[in-house]
Amino acid sequence: MKKIIIINGPNLNLLGKREPNIYGSLTFNEFFEQIQSKYSEITLEHYQSNVEGELINKLHQAGFGTYDGIILNAAAYTHTSVGIGDAVAAIETPVVEVHISNTFDREEFRHKSYVSPHAKGVIVGFGLQSYELAIQSFI
Ligand code: DQA
Repeated sequence: MKKIIIINGPNLNLLGKREPNIYGSLTFNEFFEQIQSKYSEITLEHYQSNVEGELINKLHQAGFGTYDGIILNAAAYTHTSVGIGDAVAAIETPVVEVHISNTFDREEFRHKSYVSPHAKGVIVGFGLQSYELAIQSFI
């Protein structure tokens, strides 16, 4: 059975409440339950932190052997964190970068990603479906 982990960065614990015009009105847990039952042939796990170092620790932990793939939405740290970019470069497990919103249709500072150069691929702007497309890329 394939094993995939979704790692979500800062403020994504507020999905459903946070700027629903941009991020939708479903909570991540509601969405996660839906995809777990839809993709029951794979083991899906989810981790979220608002803390940069904790996200780096999780990438290290998940990045060698345990998982077939990592789906990473580093949220705002995508645009600022050399450390998260370096962690993605350092680990062995392939990482697909996802974003709910189309970051290229938003402020200029969201156009830069420290993750993209080290990701297997990038999926941007399909709402929560971005995560699903990333899952499909691993199966
Ligand atoms: C985001 C886009 C980022 O620019 C923003 O800081 C987020 C969410 C997205 O999924 O659309 O928090 O990663």
